[in-house]
Amino acid sequence: IEKALTGQDLAGKHVLVTAGPTQEAMDPVRFLSNHSTGKMGYAIAGRAAMRGAEVTLVSGPTALDTPKGVNRVDIRSARDMYDAVLSRAAQQDFIIKAAAVGDYRPAATADEKLKKGDGELNIRLARNPDILAALGADKRPGQLLCGFAMETQNLLDNAESKLRRKNCDMLVANSLRDKGAGFGTDTNIATLLFADGHREQPSIMSKADLADLILDRLLGMSRR
Ligand code: CTP
Ligand code: CA
Repeated sequence: IEKALTGQDLAGKHVLVTAGPTQEAMDPVRFLSNHSTGKMGYAIAGRAAMRGAEVTLVSGPTALDTPKGVNRVDIRSARDMYDAVLSRAAQQDFIIKAAAVGDYRPAATADEKLKKGDGELNIRLARNPDILAALGADKRPGQLLCGFAMETQNLLDNAESKLRRKNCDMLVANSLRDKGAGFGTDTNIATLLFADGHREQPSIMSKADLADLILDRLLGMSRR
């Protein structure tokens, strides 16, 4: 029987998914973060496990339950995510970077709670490493890399340049301006961009269906 019929078409594949926001600590009580809820990444991890893959989910803080059959690794900061992903990258067939990684962190983290003063407070920020770019620079033959891009303007141009710059095989682009896409929604409106230059524009669909579509395309590329 064709494995697709039994629903186990990803059996034997090692899939690493990142999901959720990162949190960059300022002091013991405060952090810098973003609105990611983790829904898209968790949907991908859950569907991949249902389809038979060996799934590692490297997750920032979220309110979601771990999908069935998924090995979850919890992290907080972008640097922790970098270490968790890079140390597991070599054995992965597909790496899917749905996480909203903080580009900056407070340059210093205070050991004690910062006390307010009368005037303005300026915080210096340091650049975080780009996890996807590091993966792209060190991709092993046969390994497939899928990035995400959430934009508010120039969606496809920005997405195309991220695909190239980070050496991805595929990139999922979504606009924060589309109703039915973005943070916390159960649906997504995405354009898929591929390294060979072609693009695919599926209509609005649930994050679970988009997860399956992303996995279908990666599986298709892996067979070529
Ligand atoms: N990404 C990453 N490590 C970072 C920043 C981003 O791995 N430090 C990944 C994200 O997980 C996503 C992709 O890169 O898959 C694109 O993230 P995005 O924030 O859209 O792009 P940036 O390159 O950070 O550019 P900008 O935020 O300036 O648009
Ligand atoms: Ca960014």
